[in-house]
Amino acid sequence: MNLLVIGGGGREHAIIRSLKKNPQVQTIYALPGNGGIAKDATCYPISATDIDGIVAFAKEHTIDYAVVAPDDPLVLGCVDKLNEIGIPCFGPKANAAIIEGSKAFSKDLMKKYAIPTASYEIFTELDKALAYLETAEIPTVIKADGLALGKGVIIAQTREEAIEAVTDMMANAKFGKSGSTVVIEEFLTGPEVSVLAFTDGKTVKPMVSSMDHKRAGDNDTGLNTGGMGTVAPNPYYTADIAEQCMQEIFLPTINAMNAEGRTFKGCLYFGLMLTPKGPKVIEYNCRFGDPETQVVLPLLESDLLTVMQATTNGTLAETEVKFADKHACCVVTASAGYPESYQKGFEITFTPEAEAHTYVAGAKLEGSKLLTSGGRVTGTTAVADTLADAVKEAYRIADGVQFENAYRRSDIGRKALQA
Ligand code: AMP
Ligand code: GLY
Repeated sequence: MNLLVIGGGGREHAIIRSLKKNPQVQTIYALPGNGGIAKDATCYPISATDIDGIVAFAKEHTIDYAVVAPDDPLVLGCVDKLNEIGIPCFGPKANAAIIEGSKAFSKDLMKKYAIPTASYEIFTELDKALAYLETAEIPTVIKADGLALGKGVIIAQTREEAIEAVTDMMANAKFGKSGSTVVIEEFLTGPEVSVLAFTDGKTVKPMVSSMDHKRAGDNDTGLNTGGMGTVAPNPYYTADIAEQCMQEIFLPTINAMNAEGRTFKGCLYFGLMLTPKGPKVIEYNCRFGDPETQVVLPLLESDLLTVMQATTNGTLAETEVKFADKHACCVVTASAGYPESYQKGFEITFTPEAEAHTYVAGAKLEGSKLLTSGGRVTGTTAVADTLADAVKEAYRIADGVQFENAYRRSDIGRKALQA
């Protein structure tokens, strides 16, 4: 079989390494992939958002199955377009990807179908949003409606900060068009859990839970990033909570999307907060998380391609989705300065052990040299019988990934170990 994977980050590298375990897989094309992925797949420099370019590429090559991994091509209808030329895909169509593409849509969906989430108001006019903020409870949370690369969320600790955030988004277009509609919501507290789930639109099979570390600095300080490391499973996510989430959140969400005529197939990501009043949805993503995938897939014992195809064919109920009873930790190595400005172009070297355990996110090939080209450069994953060993091993192995100006958080997994 020939596979096509859309995307070019650490998540896509992890997906490709898992897909390669299936002996039927001959060739994997990655668009655009990256310099590290090029060791595991055939990369072509076609951007993940160039839907016409992707379709043209797919027409020229024999593709049996495609995996659309990032949010933007999903929201832009990449799956719809590939389906039109007869290529089955992993991932939701555009009308279902809106569950991530518009926060206003997802909040209204949860309200309509009584799925627990933070209470909220949606604003399209600046003066109404500002009037609401005069009496809103502080802290409060301000979210740009559309995709903003995880940066469109401001936790305002003071009324002044809230006013500034809303004004930046609505009047100063700080997040472009995605901030012309703003969601203002209740500030929730409690441990955060990421749950990625396979679904074919009828059956939901959650993957092992995980914990992201979103802030740039140790002890959850500094700016929000795409994620500086992960552990799985998440110790706060007990079997009882998992069952409660299945009944109150996962199944109601799938049913709600069906009722809206927006059947969701693929990986639905539930960003949950375990509040004193029970689990609530912080956000939905229409795709695998990054770097959650880098700890979840190494624990998957079932064949990834078989499970993905089952979500497409509607046969997930009969398909086993089994995870190892082990622990995983992924430590991201980033360019110092990320998520703000940073330097690129430094050569990356690996020990053989590090290379085997590392997913490459932001790197490009120049001749035979691998050079840094992004904020998050690599993610190094270790699997062990205990969380403590997985964390220790991930850090030990990540030391074998070297480049100038490399930066890692030093406390990935600490909170989970203290849970
Ligand atoms: P999101 O992009 O929606 O996942 O938000 C980014 C991060 O902001 C989340 O991972 C949470 O840590 C935090 N956050 C979002 N919404 C809320 C909320 N209602 N209450 C508290 N924290 C939140
Ligand atoms: N790690 C969070 C995300 O993928 O959105």
